[in-house]
Amino acid sequence: MSVTEHPTDAEFLRRGYACFPAEPQVLDWVAEAQPAAEASLSDPAFDALYACGRTWFVGLDALPNDAVGRVGASAAFGGQAADMARRFLGDWPDLHRAQVSATFPGYPQPREGESDAAFGYRLRRDAAHVDGVLGEGTPKRRYVREPHGFVLGIALNPADPDATPLVAWEGSHKIMQDAFRAAFAGVSAAERDDLDVTDIYVSVRKHCFENCTRVELPLALGETVLLHPFTLHGVAPWRAGEGHRSVAYFRPEVAGGVPAWLGLPG
Ligand SMILES: [Fe+2]
Repeated sequence: MSVTEHPTDAEFLRRGYACFPAEPQVLDWVAEAQPAAEASLSDPAFDALYACGRTWFVGLDALPNDAVGRVGASAAFGGQAADMARRFLGDWPDLHRAQVSATFPGYPQPREGESDAAFGYRLRRDAAHVDGVLGEGTPKRRYVREPHGFVLGIALNPADPDATPLVAWEGSHKIMQDAFRAAFAGVSAAERDDLDVTDIYVSVRKHCFENCTRVELPLALGETVLLHPFTLHGVAPWRAGEGHRSVAYFRPEVAGGVPAWLGLPG
């Protein structure tokens, strides 16, 4: 496998990500989650979740799991990635319905309404982002709307390493978290929702592209990844391979909102 076999908490905090080999506990979970995820891909109720000319099923909340991650006949979700996330947060949160992110040959095509510049960024910069820093309005301005505790991905099917691997910028979480801490310093609770972070976010992203190593994390079936919530990450284009890549993501928001998010270990 291409990922570290047994990443330590210290390595996770240094790199901003940790990948884990397939474990029996996770493979058993995937055996139940995978058919449920596949069903969501063809469920007319979820058809609006396709984007980028149907080369990406965004799939927010598309997996019918419960608050401990049970789906179908599975047990609660667990394993090494969950254990590390629990140590990182000091808690294991209730889980939302997982995102089922599925990508197909030809990704990316322009997203509906996407400008040439934004599509170029998707194509050349892997649509890199920090989860929960959302764009609003025209022209788009960015605000912290979903302070996630972590991002935990589980590979639901086999896929070619060249088929839209997850990409992370090593160490970017430290730079991002420092920048957001500075941006929110002295901002009152009442003003937090209105803090426009567009300029700082764009300039720090650029700094990360220039100073952090871009690492591809092409998870194989049953492998898991834990991303630090401030890690700059994205999805590479579909360069080769057949079928599709399907990944389930748990991204619970941190209890305590933005202040707790800023205070997470970095
Ligand atoms: Fe993301």
